[in-house]
Amino acid sequence: MSRRIDGKAIAAQIKDELKEEVLRLKGSGVTVGLAVILVGEDTASAIYVNNKKKACEYVGIESVSYELPADTSQEDLLALIGRLNQEEKINGILVQLPLPEHIDEEAVITAISPDKDVDGFHTESAGRLLVGKEGFLPCTPAGIIQLIRRSGFSIEGKECVVVGRSNIVGKPMALLLLRENATVTVAHSKTENLQQVTSRADILVAAVGKPKFITADYVKEGAVVIDVGIHRTAGRKMCGDVDFEEVQKKAAAITPVPGGVGPMTIAMLLANCVEAAKR
Ligand code: GUN
Repeated sequence: MSRRIDGKAIAAQIKDELKEEVLRLKGSGVTVGLAVILVGEDTASAIYVNNKKKACEYVGIESVSYELPADTSQEDLLALIGRLNQEEKINGILVQLPLPEHIDEEAVITAISPDKDVDGFHTESAGRLLVGKEGFLPCTPAGIIQLIRRSGFSIEGKECVVVGRSNIVGKPMALLLLRENATVTVAHSKTENLQQVTSRADILVAAVGKPKFITADYVKEGAVVIDVGIHRTAGRKMCGDVDFEEVQKKAAAITPVPGGVGPMTIAMLLANCVEAAKR
């Protein structure tokens, strides 16, 4: 039976560290401010945004939220971002995705000043990560590195396989693991002999987007398995990209869904806000 990696507990630990740091910054006259923009009425997005605001409150980050109607024009959204870019009290800007179809996400993300890009989605941030310059890291992959490290597993020299190649998770995850001196393979929907590839992994990161896709046959005995997926089964129960029940019998450690990667994403967003204020 494997160890369960408790993302909720590790995220709580990080939030407590940040809380102290925010307090220290306040003592030296620096406040940390985050602007959160939500366009439209997507229920899941509203819940995510609410969780982010609550987490800000907990660590002492001042969050200002903009809840805009679904028919907001791209022009108005870009104008708001332009104003927030100039606002001194705002250190970070987060535009919750997905945006309504009439708005070009890329145009919106790149309108955010790279100095305030606490999601780490700007092409400037992505480029900085690629060439090893300091910049904001995307929250989910940055959180996964923390999960692995703080659970006591080393990354250097290990065979890491990332399944998924999105700009938000898969690609930056591979770069971060490489930065930690791992041997990294990126697998995806067109990978041949996928089971053979994933079975090499000492550390397997599943960002497939398919419920319970990674079964025990994909996992090496004693691997560390990180599950980025989040789905609801027909019975409304939550599950990830990994078949938890089956894989936990084989893995050395595994993240649950919920309570694994999810809480870490928010913790790293807060960490990026604090970093933005310090810079
Ligand atoms: N939608 C789903 N996840 C995220 C995230 O991490 N950041 C933003 N801005 N939108 C999201």
